[in-house]
Amino acid sequence: MKMDLGAKITFIDGQLATLNLVPGSSVYGERLLGDYRSWSPRRSKLASALLKGLKLPLSADSSVLYLGASTGTTASHLSDILSDGILYLVEFAKKPMEKLVSLCEARYNMIPIFEDANHPERYLGIVGEVDLIYQDISQPNQVEILIKNADHLLKKSGWVIIAIKARSIDLARSSEDIFRSELEKFSMRFEIEETFDLSPGYRDHLMVVGKLSSN
Ligand SMILES: C[S@@+](CC[C@H](N)C(=O)[O-])C[C@H]1O[C@@H](n2cnc3c(N)ncnc32)[C@H](O)[C@@H]1O
Repeated sequence: MKMDLGAKITFIDGQLATLNLVPGSSVYGERLLGDYRSWSPRRSKLASALLKGLKLPLSADSSVLYLGASTGTTASHLSDILSDGILYLVEFAKKPMEKLVSLCEARYNMIPIFEDANHPERYLGIVGEVDLIYQDISQPNQVEILIKNADHLLKKSGWVIIAIKARSIDLARSSEDIFRSELEKFSMRFEIEETFDLSPGYRDHLMVVGKLSSN
C-alpha cells in the first residue's frame, strides 16, 4: 500500500496533525501547532481510523473523490495532505455546501460539487478518474452509492475507504449482522484490505478499506 506522505501527517505533543496548506489559518477551530493543524479523532472518523492503524493509500499528488464532504472538516486535512493533488468534494445539502464553497476558495486543491452522490454520471465530466474514493454518507444504500461511483470514476488500480454506519441502514438488527451483510455487498465489487471498528468514539461504525476486484 502506497503511503508516501513525507511530513504531511505527524504527531505533535501526542496529537495527530497535518501540515497546514494555508499557514496560520484554522478551519473549524482546531488548534494550530506551528506549521501543523491538530486533527482530532473526535471530529473526524478518518482521524479515528488513522489512530487505529489505517495507512492512507495516498501520496501528495493523488486524486481523491470525497462523498459526503459536509462543511469540510475531514476534507480540509486531506487537502493538507494532497498538496500536489486534487480533492473533489460531493455534498448535497445546501447549508454545509455554503461553508464548503468558502473553504474551497482558500484551498487550491479542493473542488466543491453540489450534487447527489447517487448520480455520479452528473459529475463525471468534472471529476475524471481518481486514485481513491472516500465516503462518509449516512444513507441506507451506502455501499451501493460507493459501487456506482467506483464504476464511473475509480482508476483500475484505485482504492476505496467507506465509513459504514449501521444505524443508518437498520435500527432493529445488530450492528454485527448489518456489517456482515454490507461487507458481503462490498466484496462483490471490491477486495477487502482492512476494517476498523470505530467504537467507542463512533458507535456502530465500521471503516472499510478496499481495492477494485481484479475479476
Ligand atoms: C456524516 S456527514 C460527513 C462528515 C464529514 N465527512 C467530515 O468528516 O467532515 C455526512 C454528509 O453526507 C451528506 N450526504 C448524505 N447523503 C448524501 C448524498 N446522497 N449525496 C451527497 N451528500 C450526501 C450529508 O448532507 C452530510 O453532510
